[in-house]
Amino acid sequence: MNQADWKNKLALIRDGFLSGLAAADAAALAELETHYLGRKGELTLSLRELKDFPLEERKVLGALGNALKEELAAKLDARKAETGAGAVDLKKSQFDLTLAGYPFAKGSLHPLTLTVDKMCDGFQKLGFSIAQGPLIEEDYFNFEALNFPPDHPARDMQDTFYVDLKDASGKDLMLRTHTSPVQIRTMKTRTPPLRTVSAGRVFRSEAVDASHSFAFHQLEGFCLDRNITMADLKWTLEAFMQDLFGSSAKIAFSPSFFPFVEPGAQAAVSCVFCGSEAACPVCKGTGWIELLGAGVIHPNVIRACGYDPEQWSGFAFGAGIERFAMLLFGIKDMRMFYENDLRILKQL
Ligand code: PHE
Repeated sequence: MNQADWKNKLALIRDGFLSGLAAADAAALAELETHYLGRKGELTLSLRELKDFPLEERKVLGALGNALKEELAAKLDARKAETGAGAVDLKKSQFDLTLAGYPFAKGSLHPLTLTVDKMCDGFQKLGFSIAQGPLIEEDYFNFEALNFPPDHPARDMQDTFYVDLKDASGKDLMLRTHTSPVQIRTMKTRTPPLRTVSAGRVFRSEAVDASHSFAFHQLEGFCLDRNITMADLKWTLEAFMQDLFGSSAKIAFSPSFFPFVEPGAQAAVSCVFCGSEAACPVCKGTGWIELLGAGVIHPNVIRACGYDPEQWSGFAFGAGIERFAMLLFGIKDMRMFYENDLRILKQL
């Protein structure tokens, strides 16, 4: 066969294919495809004959042949789309269209996550930004810069889990026992005025019961600015509580001790469940629910972070998130949050 004959053959293939294509239904299209483009189709076989041509001719004819192959394949696809060939006929398929669908399980956020989000939202409305810190912490941030000198008895109040790793100064690393180290990290890396909150997991070596766990969550907040007093702390906490529990919520302080604040206080919110009734299971008739540790930041802490306590002052508070979640969801045993029993979590 010479070049001219081969080109002629190609032209015949094209004509034959196109005249077949115009009138083809779905079944005819499948036949057409096998006949011309299949493994033993006319075009496929013709392309194979090219091996008998000299190299130069083979290059030119090969290009022609491949172009035709692409043209025919594209036209075939277009026609298939027109006739709907290739679509599954659902009525004839194995699908039972009358069958009801499977229920699709919807996930939801864990009540502790919802509580953290809600609390952070409340503080963001008051102009606080969000900060974060590591769970494995250095002695310096967890204790020393927070005015817990080595061997200070207050360290024993927070039974610490140590990690078998040392920090740069050779001291054992630990699982943070509170979120207060985030205060230090934030003051050291950012410049005042500062208002931040930070929520996260903390760890203490404690036996598990209805209101204790070796891993729980805290929300830490602090402010560093000029002329900050206990009054700013009280206003902020009251505004936050009213947002969370309603406009009648009030705050009361009672004296307490934490090395990193002076004065230090326990802050309680007025019982939002009763009017000081003796039988109230939440406030036990006192009318108050203790919710946070708080106070005015100790000058030693401000100094440790590189600021002059004569120029800068601040307040800080730390809240147990489980305690808030128990109030918000009406739960009496915090173990419910950790057991991951979906039958309970789904009700919240
Ligand atoms: N970090 C304290 C604790 O875990 C709580 C606290 C935070 C108290 C900030 C005062 C100020 O017990």
